[in-house]
Amino acid sequence: MIETLTTQAAEAVAAAQAADSLDALAELERQALGKKGFFSEAKKGMGALAPEDRKDAGMAINSAKGEVDAAIATRRSELAAAERATQLEAERLDLTEVPVSAEAGHAHIVTQTWEALEDIFVGMGFRVAEGPQAETDWHNFDALNIPKGHPARDGFDTLYVNHGEPGSTLLRTHTSPVQVRTMLDQEPPIYVIAPGRVFRRDTADATHMPVFHQLEGLVIDRHISLADLAGTIDAFVSAYFGKSFNSRLRPNYFPFTEPSAEFDIQMNDGSWLEMGGCGMVHPNVLRAGGIDPEEWSGFAFGFGIDRLALMKYGVDDLRDMFSNDTRFLNQF
Ligand code: PHE
Repeated sequence: MIETLTTQAAEAVAAAQAADSLDALAELERQALGKKGFFSEAKKGMGALAPEDRKDAGMAINSAKGEVDAAIATRRSELAAAERATQLEAERLDLTEVPVSAEAGHAHIVTQTWEALEDIFVGMGFRVAEGPQAETDWHNFDALNIPKGHPARDGFDTLYVNHGEPGSTLLRTHTSPVQVRTMLDQEPPIYVIAPGRVFRRDTADATHMPVFHQLEGLVIDRHISLADLAGTIDAFVSAYFGKSFNSRLRPNYFPFTEPSAEFDIQMNDGSWLEMGGCGMVHPNVLRAGGIDPEEWSGFAFGFGIDRLALMKYGVDDLRDMFSNDTRFLNQF
């Protein structure tokens, strides 16, 4: 009996080593080690042995079974590894062949312009300041020398926010309130720009949007004059548009600057385009910002970022910039 079993076990080990699939191995395992397998038969046969032979027979069965077990386990892990490798190979995706249809995006033309302007002014020694888009009536108007009832208020088509006392909160109509916040926030000398989003109750047309972007500039120092303002604007215009572009100031009126001016830039064809407003900071504004006008003076300027982008890239209609049509945006 033991001899037969040893032969069967040796055959089973050989068959296990030769098995070419996990299924074949499972079948072999069933035949050798299953309920009806030859090891079960051998164990049953032990009952017929003389008691003194049973111990040797039992040990022989166990060791033969251990060999078959080990052979099956070894082959099983080999086959499993091979099967997995085949599966991985079959399911492999060649990513180099996936067509690149979604090209990388890029910053919006207004963002590009905004960032280019920041770079220019930071290069000239300015810091970037920020203020809230929902602003108090005081920061947007009163502190800028536009008290309640002042006719200049009508010039801004203000959008009010339903918050607090009626009329006390609004969407800032310009970036100039950041002048006031900066003055209250830090001691002179001050050299800041404040780019940001502003809002006016305007109907969208080729040159107006109800939501647009401005860049404010504020300088407060000792002995600042109109010449410093003109020089700063000229430096910025040639840095942004190119050395051959000129700028000029034309007298104008703003409640928060005195004297005030409009600044224009000269295009390649010689024509002048209006860019923004500027002037020497009004003493009342300095006082509202906690700065002594006897000791300090300064200038401020403000212009539209969107309109600047429109001029630089020759876009005819401001609305195109905000229609989110990628055929338009991809050009920049
Ligand atoms: N805030 C003004 C506007 O929106 C522009 C301006 C800024 C004028 C600073 C003078 C000084 O029209």
